[in-house]
Amino acid sequence: MAYNLLKGKKGIIFGALDEKSIAWKVAEHAHAEGAVFTLSNTPAAMRFGKLSELAHKTGSEIIPADATSPDDLWNVFKKSMEYLDGKVDFVLHSIGMSLNVRKKRLYDDLNYDYFKKTLDISALSFHKMLQVARKLDAINEWGSVVALSYIAAQRTLYGYNDMGDAKALLESVARSFGYIYGRDKKIRINTISQSPTITTAGSGVKGMQNLIDFTGRMSPLGNADADECAQYCITLFSDLTRKVTMQNLYHDGGFSNMGMSLKAMNMYNRGIDCDCLED
Ligand SMILES: NC(=O)c1ccc[n+]([C@@H]2O[C@H](COP(=O)([O-])OP(=O)(O)OC[C@H]3O[C@@H](n4cnc5c(N)ncnc54)[C@H](O)[C@@H]3O)[C@@H](O)[C@H]2O)c1
Repeated sequence: MAYNLLKGKKGIIFGALDEKSIAWKVAEHAHAEGAVFTLSNTPAAMRFGKLSELAHKTGSEIIPADATSPDDLWNVFKKSMEYLDGKVDFVLHSIGMSLNVRKKRLYDDLNYDYFKKTLDISALSFHKMLQVARKLDAINEWGSVVALSYIAAQRTLYGYNDMGDAKALLESVARSFGYIYGRDKKIRINTISQSPTITTAGSGVKGMQNLIDFTGRMSPLGNADADECAQYCITLFSDLTRKVTMQNLYHDGGFSNMGMSLKAMNMYNRGIDCDCLED
C-alpha cells in the first residue's frame, strides 16, 4: 500500500545490485510513493547485477560510480541534477564490502590493504558522498540522507570482522556531518541499523544463517527483512521525520535492547548438556 509520501521528491539511490538488495527494495518503494530518482552502482556490479531491470521498472537513469572516487561521485550528483531537473531531496547510501570477509581473513589476521579498502568502500564513501553533495549544493533544504549500518558498530558479533569497524566509522560520519549539514542547510543525516538480512553482501558474513536464527529468536518482533527496511527508509525520506537527524536508528525487531529471550533460552537449554558447549 502506498501513501504518496514522496510525491514530488527527487533522489539518488546507491547500492542496488539485485532484487535481494536493500537498495532495490528502497527504489521500488520510493517509486511507488511517487519519487523520481537516479540509480548508481559500480560498473562491475552493473555487469553482474540486474540494475538495468530496476531502472526500466522505475523509469530511472543509471549513473555508474565507484563510491570511493570523489570524481565519480561528483559526476553522479551533477548528472542526477541534470536528469532530475534540479537538486535532490534524498540520498541512500547502501554500500558495503570487505575483502577480509570475502577472503575469510580473521580479525586477528587482517590484510591491511583489504582493511583500508573496507573502510574506504563501506564508510569513507559516505563522507565523500556528503562532501561532494555539499560542495555542489546538490541537496534541497530539509533533504534527508540515510546510510545502512549494523549493530556490530556497538557490539562484537562473531564473524562480522572489519565491517564492525567500518560501521562504527559510518555512524560517526552521520553524526559529524549531520551537525554541519543540519546547521547550514537543514539537511538530516541518519543511519539505520538493520537486522541481518539475506542479500549478496549479507551472505558473505560467517555463519549468517545461524546468526539470523539467533537474532530472530532474540527479537520480540522477529528480524526485519529488506522490504521492511525499505519502508523505514521511506519514512526517513518523507516530510514526517523532519527533525530526526544525527541518529543511529535500530530497525531490528527489538534485538538491540534484548539480553535473553524465552525462545533463545529454549534453544540453548536443548543443547546445554552437549560437550561442544564446554569452551
Ligand atoms: N544484509 C545484511 O544483513 C545487512 C544488515 C545491516 C546492514 N546492511 C548494510 O546494507 C547495505 C546494503 O547491503 P545489502 O545487504 O543490500 O547487500 P548488497 O550486496 O545487495 O549491496 C551492497 C552494495 O554495495 C555495492 N558496492 C560495493 N562496493 C562498491 C563501491 N566501491 N562503490 C559503489 N558501490 C559499491 C555493491 O555493488 C552492492 O550493490 C550495506 O551497507 C550493508 O552493510 C546489510
